Amino acid sequence: MLKKDMILLIGLLVCVKTCYSLDNGLALTPPMGWMHWQRYRCIVDCKEYPDDCVSEQLFKKAADLIVSEGYDQLGYEYIIVDDCWLNKTRDENGRLQPDKDRFPSGMKALADYIHGKGLKFGLYEDFGTKTCAGYPGVLGHLEQDAQQFADWDVDYVKLDGCYSNITEMYDGYTQFGKYLNETGRPMVYSCSWPAYTEPLGIPGDYETLSEYCNLWRNWDDIDDNWANVSRIIDFFAENQDRFIPYAGPGHWNDPDMLIIGNFGLSDDQSELQMAIWAIMAAPLIMSNNLATVKPQHKAILQNKDVIAVNQDALGIQGRLVFKKNKLEIWTRPILPIVNNHTSYAIAFISQRFDGRPYHLNTTLQEIGLNNPNGYTFKDLYNPDKYDSSEVYKAIKVTLFPTAVVFIKATPVDNEQVPNEKLIEVKHIF
Ligand code: GLA
Repeated sequence: MLKKDMILLIGLLVCVKTCYSLDNGLALTPPMGWMHWQRYRCIVDCKEYPDDCVSEQLFKKAADLIVSEGYDQLGYEYIIVDDCWLNKTRDENGRLQPDKDRFPSGMKALADYIHGKGLKFGLYEDFGTKTCAGYPGVLGHLEQDAQQFADWDVDYVKLDGCYSNITEMYDGYTQFGKYLNETGRPMVYSCSWPAYTEPLGIPGDYETLSEYCNLWRNWDDIDDNWANVSRIIDFFAENQDRFIPYAGPGHWNDPDMLIIGNFGLSDDQSELQMAIWAIMAAPLIMSNNLATVKPQHKAILQNKDVIAVNQDALGIQGRLVFKKNKLEIWTRPILPIVNNHTSYAIAFISQRFDGRPYHLNTTLQEIGLNNPNGYTFKDLYNPDKYDSSEVYKAIKVTLFPTAVVFIKATPVDNEQVPNEKLIEVKHIF
């Protein structure tokens, strides 16, 4: 072999080990959809709870409602079956099988139904010997199960990490990803690996995750209460310098489901969860009863401007830029770009519990918005608040406890502003 060829071959071999890229062309913006877990958990008694049990009816109904309530038009597309869909044992050929009573038509038929609605089908499994709820995991069957998912026309796979050894996760998650790719069926790959290491103080391997997975759960499960949501927001803020570099088109950090529309969040807190998930470029996967979501919560989940921030094509995850006395400012660079300055989504939030409003003043420059000509504003939850012909260089907001003021700031082009002026704004509630 010529020396040159030898070098090429070595380069190729090194590349096979280190240059693997998921490159399935999926999740170029954060995935949007609905997943049953937070709201419905592992309810398997369909006699006692016919409307709430994990069954094909539940997912057909969710698919129906995603369409009839107009969520699909806003981008919500994945209907994801989480844990507790499986039979407790594999079949005689080692194949996974759904619970026969709750999924009598089988998973392919459910996929067909969901596809028939113009939506996509997601399915849960676990890298270990068992799923978190004790059903068969993929360990020992990685290739067979990846192929089974493809045969069922799955579009999105969530691979959890219960009943497995964290030292085996690197090989397990990367190998399963390769098997998914080898099926030839494009499937979004959601990896729970870091959710099992970070709580033990072991940082996730985000370099590898961003190469092999479309999204990954960085932390513990979300629950339907403000304290839990607040803890997740704090965790992502505390660790943002480790997480942000790995987010981008095709690969996202995942702070877990949207719980808006359930019982635990006030209206203000619901706006806040949606705003911070938009700033963090987080997957927008609802877990709620779509038939009973209150109108004001539906309006939040369907807010086009907030969704546009989340789905922004630059794909840059935003960050906490100011924090004092539990008052915070988060920013995210978004389109359009004007004169080399990006626009910004800005979330002002109060995490205080002392029941009174606080004022927050800042110049835009202080929070990194440097366009010398200033910005126009749109309040994304109160679109009539600002006159789009006015130009701002500073802002003053009044923040209520556990509430958000969410603004899009668009840079002003020189020529459009003959008389530059500085305007301070007070939010009047
Ligand atoms: C883990 C995951 C959850 C859910 C359950 C299912 O706790 O983090 O999102 O999938 O398992 O048992």
